[in-house]
Amino acid sequence: MAEGLEHFNGIICISRTIQDFIEIPESFAGRVRIISPPFDDLLEYKNTREQPSFTYRGLVFFISIEEFSDLSSIITTFPEPTYTQFVLIDNSSNGTMSLSNVDTILSVRTTSISESEFRFLTTKGFQLIQIQNDVLESNKRYINQLQDTQHDHEALIDIGKALSVEKDPDRLLRLILYLSKKITGADAGSIYLIEEREDGTKQLRFKYSHTFSKELPYEEFTIPMDANSIAGYVAVTRNVLNIPDVYLLNASDPVSFNSSFDKIHDYRSKSMLVVPMVNHLDQAIGVIQLINSKEYLDGTENSTGNEAFEVVLSTPEDFDTKVVPFDERYESLMESVASQAAIAIENNRMMLQIRNQFEEFVKASVIAIESRDIATSGHSFRVAQICMELAEAINNSNEGPFKDTCFSESELKELEYAALLHDFGKVYIDVAIFQKAKKLYPRDLDNLLLKMDYLYRYQELMFTIDQRQIAISSKTTSQYSKKARELEEHRNRVLQQIMNIKDTIVQLNEPVVLDADVSAMLDELESSVTCLDCVDIEGNRLCILTPEIETNLSIQRGSLNPQERKEIESHVTHTYNFVSKIPWPPEYRRIPEFALKHHEKMDGTGYPDGIKGEENIPLQARMIALADIYDALIATDRPYKAPITLEKALAILEDEGNNNKLDNRLVELFITQRIYEKIDRNDFRIIR
Ligand SMILES: [Fe+2]
Ligand SMILES: [Fe+2]
Repeated sequence: MAEGLEHFNGIICISRTIQDFIEIPESFAGRVRIISPPFDDLLEYKNTREQPSFTYRGLVFFISIEEFSDLSSIITTFPEPTYTQFVLIDNSSNGTMSLSNVDTILSVRTTSISESEFRFLTTKGFQLIQIQNDVLESNKRYINQLQDTQHDHEALIDIGKALSVEKDPDRLLRLILYLSKKITGADAGSIYLIEEREDGTKQLRFKYSHTFSKELPYEEFTIPMDANSIAGYVAVTRNVLNIPDVYLLNASDPVSFNSSFDKIHDYRSKSMLVVPMVNHLDQAIGVIQLINSKEYLDGTENSTGNEAFEVVLSTPEDFDTKVVPFDERYESLMESVASQAAIAIENNRMMLQIRNQFEEFVKASVIAIESRDIATSGHSFRVAQICMELAEAINNSNEGPFKDTCFSESELKELEYAALLHDFGKVYIDVAIFQKAKKLYPRDLDNLLLKMDYLYRYQELMFTIDQRQIAISSKTTSQYSKKARELEEHRNRVLQQIMNIKDTIVQLNEPVVLDADVSAMLDELESSVTCLDCVDIEGNRLCILTPEIETNLSIQRGSLNPQERKEIESHVTHTYNFVSKIPWPPEYRRIPEFALKHHEKMDGTGYPDGIKGEENIPLQARMIALADIYDALIATDRPYKAPITLEKALAILEDEGNNNKLDNRLVELFITQRIYEKIDRNDFRIIR
């Protein structure tokens, strides 16, 4: 080895053309290569390293000035990093070329080079090469650091985004741990959440844990929030702990490691990074504990960025060789991640609280409606239940008209709330209208029948008076007998007529559709009543069939007159007005619309707007419509209708589908999937 050159990685190349200009010291012989134009012999160094330990190529050339350009272009084909320094010998008669701006030219000589000059030039050349390498290496380090920082920032942004969209609390914890492990290359990790005991003191709940290399059971447990455990210490002090090997902790350290878990599960905890989760109010809400980083630390080349889920630790050697301390930069990075996680958990808790409040509010509202009318009790809950079953069947459809329809979790909730509240507007309507079983209200019927009884007695009295008049005015017995018989016959006819009128009234009062011509019956009734003279005690003519009673008795179908029907129909508008005022979260914004449209029909004959077709009536409103009708049909104790069998109810639904009233695809789904079997007609009934 040449003296003073031990630490240089490289060789000295001297062109044969200027070999005579140089005095090469004996001790340099091993380092020197004589090369000849066109320098093909140099190519043998291109892909080989002079010594395996060399991390770069260093070449100091002594060549003639004319050879510089050719040699330079050969050197550019060498793999990086290759560093060169040139000593140029100007042996031409053209004078010195201007090459001073080329930073790899160490010297340009026009005279011979002595041994000492040679020693000086080569040493300087290799020193410059060393400097070039050092500069490049430190640049590389900076670039790596910059890349790490950029990577960390990107990871933080990605984590922020990922955490902000996860609504499910359990999935959120999993995601937090997954991302934390992925970033740091950790093999295992746990999340603890701080909770308050009934006595106001705090404890840590071991909430979620995952170990990549080993299937380890875990169940929730709590530990005191104090410095006796590593997680407790971090929760109390809010300090980040980065421990290279937990088994090397000693008594002077603020924490100690409990190895019982390792012993039970044949695991070896080694490096550990533990960070507090601090929320936006600067309150600690939990701790993230990461164990055994497996990240490759020999640069980024071998790192996949996913060692946490690729490198398995199974043998004791694996724990020795593959586990490394957590990189220091992860301390602050994980602090940021933990803060984002804390905020996401807090947001999640608040969302859950708001959701629970909505749930409670909706249920309380429904109970308020249903308690007004015991006959329809449970209706709204059952309608919601049917809608949920229908939605599930739609989500499970792999073929047919609903194969491309899928309700998300929030869409399901939106539908459920709309179904629960669909009839809320009924609270604004006189409950008597809902309970009106017959065409006349019971009090009106009683009143009417009482009037008929009065008429009956009145007629009886009149006949008695007439009888006395006959007795007084008859001159003979036979005359009296004849008139009395005629009067008696007339009396019986009239009284019978009154009884018939009563029967007709009772008959007309029934809500069923009569085969008879109702208006003809009413006309007859009216003329019969009109010709019966009757006055009250003040001598006023008694009005028996008021216009209101006539209107009600002339109802062709059901028990409601047009005005009452309109009143009942207004419940959808009342529902809409009420439900629209509730400050729903954005994902529930269509609840008012679904509720408003639950009485619209596919053919446009529904209310309130008579809109038609699936382009105008949302699927959710069509689902509520079907559920609403089905529940009304199978109801057993509605005052205005007799109970019908399930078969009959399904047949009616089919008719409604075929006649383009209900969405027939929904009806088909309801029947083929036997959704009706999942509904108990007495579910949710409020018992008073
Ligand atoms: Fe309704
Ligand atoms: Fe309803």
